[in-house]
Amino acid sequence: MIVRHYRGSYEIEFCLTEGAFKEFPADSFVITDENVARLHGPAAPVSRPIFAVAPGEQSKSFQVVERLVDWLAESGASRNSTVVAWGGGVIGDLAGLVAAVYMRGIEFVQIPTTLLAMVDSSVGGKVGIDTGKGKNLVGAFWPPSQVRVAVGFLDTLDPRDWKSGMAEVIKYGLIMDEALFAQFEEMEWTSVEDWRPIVERCIELKRQVVEQDEFETLGLRATLNFGHTIGHAIEAATNYAGPSHGEAVAIGMVIETRLAERLGFCPSGTASRIAECLALQGLPYSAPPGLNPESLVEIMQRDKKATERRLAFSLLTRVGECKLFGGVPREEVLATLTNG
Ligand SMILES: NC(=O)c1ccc[n+]([C@@H]2O[C@H](COP(=O)([O-])OP(=O)(O)OC[C@H]3O[C@@H](n4cnc5c(N)ncnc54)[C@H](O)[C@@H]3O)[C@@H](O)[C@H]2O)c1
Ligand SMILES: [Zn+2]
Repeated sequence: MIVRHYRGSYEIEFCLTEGAFKEFPADSFVITDENVARLHGPAAPVSRPIFAVAPGEQSKSFQVVERLVDWLAESGASRNSTVVAWGGGVIGDLAGLVAAVYMRGIEFVQIPTTLLAMVDSSVGGKVGIDTGKGKNLVGAFWPPSQVRVAVGFLDTLDPRDWKSGMAEVIKYGLIMDEALFAQFEEMEWTSVEDWRPIVERCIELKRQVVEQDEFETLGLRATLNFGHTIGHAIEAATNYAGPSHGEAVAIGMVIETRLAERLGFCPSGTASRIAECLALQGLPYSAPPGLNPESLVEIMQRDKKATERRLAFSLLTRVGECKLFGGVPREEVLATLTNG
């Protein structure tokens, strides 16, 4: 599959885990995290210089970028070198940013190892790190030169990270592809190989969106944020110690659809249908107790620098279709959060 972008195009190639590092540019430098190196290093031998950072969001920082840039320089990386991001979304975002800035930009290849990274973060060219003032506050559009997807890596993923990716997959079904969503209303999974066609479909859907609205100016790429406005508010209100990102997005998708129903944008019963599917897949569908609706709305307004009384939301018009709505009254959001 080819993805076109503002500087050219890149190929997304499916391969086996053993093949992930085959025929690599001689002059490449691999960035990964300690979990991926420990779990998959033996089966996917990397015959290139490799740097494993500590796992987790805290590695998306200026300090780690500086350490990686120093490592590249000390190891002799040149303008013609390639950075390989081997890991989850954290590694893709971090190594991508390093590639974007090292010597004013060098090539990079993504080898995603989490479901979320395969279906979401490795496609679309957004890279970045966090600062004390906010998540993804420093970043760039720096598309990879290639993405290699081996679903075999998913074999070792823990349940929390499965769920994170699963919420995003269900989201693609809800915003763009009813048949994809419907699979999750029945299906239980047996092996990671079952996931290959699903991963492929999600990447194809993301490709369609990012090719048409690469810089998020037309309201189309914004539909990928379905579930995320309320999801992010829940993550922030619980100081990132409550529901995981995927769980918060799952809850956000249900509440945002209740809001769409309330506003008459989508048929009633849609939110309950989503909640049932999420329950079958082991994902939560209602907010944890004790959250104050007023403070959730305040967080959303802060996030979006929204005008006082109205908020923008990507909302379903039916299962399989989503639109960006600019002027949702604050009171309607509040009433949905308060009364369901
Ligand atoms: N650039 C984008 O468009 C975009 C889109 C969505 C999310 N993101 C970013 O992605 C990040 C989240 O990604 P994530 O959920 O993949 O997080 P992650 O990279 O932290 O991975 C989650 C955990 O899984 C471990 N792991 C990775 N691969 C594994 C494997 N095969 N087996 C077992 N464990 C494995 C990691 O060590 C980590 O502990 C966030 O920083 C988010 O901002 C970026
Ligand atoms: Zn997300």
